[in-house]
Amino acid sequence: MEETKKTLLDDSFTSAMALTNSGVPQVPDRYVLPPSQRPALGSSLGTTETTLPVIDFSLLHQPSLRSRAIHEINIACKEFGFFQVINHGTPSSVVKDALDAATLFFDLPVEEKMLLVSANVHEPVRYGTSLNHSTDSVHYWRDFIKHYSHPLSKWIDMWPSNPPCYKDKVGKYSEATHVLHKQLIEAIAESLGLEKTYLQEEIEEGSQVMAVNCYPTCPEPEIALGMPPHSDFSSLTILLQSSQGLQIMDCNKNWVSVPYIEGALIVQLGDQVEVMSNGIYKSVIHRVTVNKDVKRLSFASLHSLPLHKKISPAPKLVNENNNAPAYGEFSFNDFLEYISSNDFIQQRFIDTIKKSIP
Ligand code: OGA
Ligand code: NI
Repeated sequence: MEETKKTLLDDSFTSAMALTNSGVPQVPDRYVLPPSQRPALGSSLGTTETTLPVIDFSLLHQPSLRSRAIHEINIACKEFGFFQVINHGTPSSVVKDALDAATLFFDLPVEEKMLLVSANVHEPVRYGTSLNHSTDSVHYWRDFIKHYSHPLSKWIDMWPSNPPCYKDKVGKYSEATHVLHKQLIEAIAESLGLEKTYLQEEIEEGSQVMAVNCYPTCPEPEIALGMPPHSDFSSLTILLQSSQGLQIMDCNKNWVSVPYIEGALIVQLGDQVEVMSNGIYKSVIHRVTVNKDVKRLSFASLHSLPLHKKISPAPKLVNENNNAPAYGEFSFNDFLEYISSNDFIQQRFIDTIKKSIP
C-alpha cells in the first residue's frame, strides 16, 4: 500500500486545486476535450432552456396531497429521471456545516490529502482527482473524497481526521440523506404502482457512498469539464450543490443546466432504479461544467442495495404488464468490477446488462 501511494506521488499526481492555486493561465493538455465533447458554454448551441421539475416534499406528509405529489414525481421520473426537492426536512444548518467541512478539507495542504489517495475503486475511503487519475485518457477538473457512509458507525473512523470537524459535520449530513433516501424510494415505488415497502429492507442494509466533489475555478472552462457525461450506478443519488454547474441530458439529447435553488436538493435516478422499473424510468445522464469565477462544491450521495445484492426488474412490473424483463440483474460490486477494467465513458455500464428484445 505504502508503495502504491509513493509511486502515485512520484507519478505527478496533480490535483485540480493545486493547478488553480498555482495560477496556470491555461489547462494542461490532458484536460483538453476533443471538440465534439466540449461544453459549448455561453452559446445557445446544444443547450436549451427547459423548466425542470421541483417537488415540494412536505406534500408527501399530508394525506390529502400525497397522491398529487406522487403523480408529480411520476412525471418527473418519466420525463427527466431527475427533480429537485424543497422542504425535504434536512435542516439548512446541517447542509451548511457539511459544505464548510468540505471547504476546509480541500483547502488542506497537498501532503495531508495525499494520505488518502488511491486509484483502487474498492477502497472505502479515497481521495483523488479527475475520475481515476491513473487510467483516464482525458482528465476532468475535479478533486474528490469518496467514502462509504452507511452504516455510519462502521465507516466513520476511516474518514479524514482533518479538518477535526469533518466526521461530525459530514456524518450528520450523511445520516440526513439516508433518511431522505428511504422516503424517496418509498415515493418512487408508489409512483410505479409498487408496494411502498418494496426494497425497504434491502435499503436499510444498503450501501451509501458519499462523493464530495470540488471543482476549482478553471482558466479554460470552454474546453474542459468537471465530470464527463455518465449515469450513476446507484438507485438514487441525492446531490447538494453550492452553485450552478450540473447539466442533465433531456429526452431530446439536449443539455439542460440545472438551476441553483437555495435550500433545494437534487434527486437523480440511477441505474438501479432503471433496472428495478424495467426501464419505465431511466437513469439520468449528467455532466459537470466548470467556470472561471467560482469554486463549486457538491456532495453526491449515492445510495444502493448492499454491495453484493443483485437488483432485477420488479416482478410486478414484468408480469402484470406482460412485459419481458428488459435488463439482467446486477449488484454494486458488479459495477465496481466493470469500471476497474473498462472505460465507462466509452460504454455505459447499464448498456451491458440490457437484454436485446427480439
Ligand atoms: C457524481 C456527479 C455531480 C456534481 O459525483 O456522480 O455526477 O455536480 N456529481 O458534482
Ligand atoms: Ni453522477
